[in-house]
Amino acid sequence: MCEYCGGEVEFVDIDPNTYLLDVKKVEALLKSSPKGTFKGIIPVDFAGRAVNLEYVRKLADEYNLWIIEDACHAPGGYFIDKNGVNQNCGNGMFAELAIFSFHPVKHIACGEGGMITTNDEELYKQLLRLRSHGITKGEDKYSNSTDFANGIEGSVTYPGWYMEMQQLGYNYRLTDIQAALGISQLKRAHSGLERRKEIARRYEEVFKNKDFIKGQSGFVDGHAYHLYVIEVEDRLGLYNYLKTKNIFPQIHYIPTHLMPYYRQYGWKEGDFPHSENYYKHCISLPLYPTLLDEEQDFVIETILRYYHA
Ligand SMILES: Cc1ncc(COP(=O)(O)O)c(C=O)c1O
Repeated sequence: MCEYCGGEVEFVDIDPNTYLLDVKKVEALLKSSPKGTFKGIIPVDFAGRAVNLEYVRKLADEYNLWIIEDACHAPGGYFIDKNGVNQNCGNGMFAELAIFSFHPVKHIACGEGGMITTNDEELYKQLLRLRSHGITKGEDKYSNSTDFANGIEGSVTYPGWYMEMQQLGYNYRLTDIQAALGISQLKRAHSGLERRKEIARRYEEVFKNKDFIKGQSGFVDGHAYHLYVIEVEDRLGLYNYLKTKNIFPQIHYIPTHLMPYYRQYGWKEGDFPHSENYYKHCISLPLYPTLLDEEQDFVIETILRYYHA
């Protein structure tokens, strides 16, 4: 996204306990760089766990940065601010923009597409224009004259059909069919989230005392549980074993800085030890609202059997 806009990306390591962006490291980077080097911060509510944006906002204000919250994993997630108030992911209280994804695996699925939320009216209007080929529609915004717009001299108002393309935009509109699907999914969003939490709580109960499993620091109420990730030794062995039992875990994610595209900029192994160590051990267990208790029991039993626990 940054690169599409002519920017460059600087990565920062994760906190090994929460798997979220390590804000202390962001702060250290900002402190050690010439003022104005950075324009913004894009923290990810990874796996559904909300980033404490109140803290990030303070930092952003100090260094004159914008925040785009990547809330793709976290519809319904929240963090608790210093006044004890729940701050929902994407509520626009701390970040200029928040992004959500409607990809089929996400909480609300429209097939593809997504949503941006903001409390900033100017950004909202700009997003509407960018979504629709850079087109502006509105009397007071036009550049061309009313004479030109009407095709006759002496006109004082713009005709009903008139619009102007004033900037370069895209066709980033969600189709009506996708939107209809999304609206129908909204009805199930709350129950889906509750079921996800229930499943996560059950995993947590079983795994919390198992020393061969490390998780994302306990059950967290504001976590939207898009993913339930654990870290294990012999991840490859467990992955293959589960597959032989018709259980299909996933690996989220391969560190971005080690993707061939980013390696071309010089990023390499050792740059972000926590992310890289996490990648060696992480495995995401089945977690989706229609997962049955007995299916989850089978997943748990199979993992315990693999570790002779
Ligand atoms: C954290 C996160 N951000 C952004 C995206 C991109 O979403 P989309 O594929 O809808 O563009 C994804 C997709 O999986 C994601 O997991």
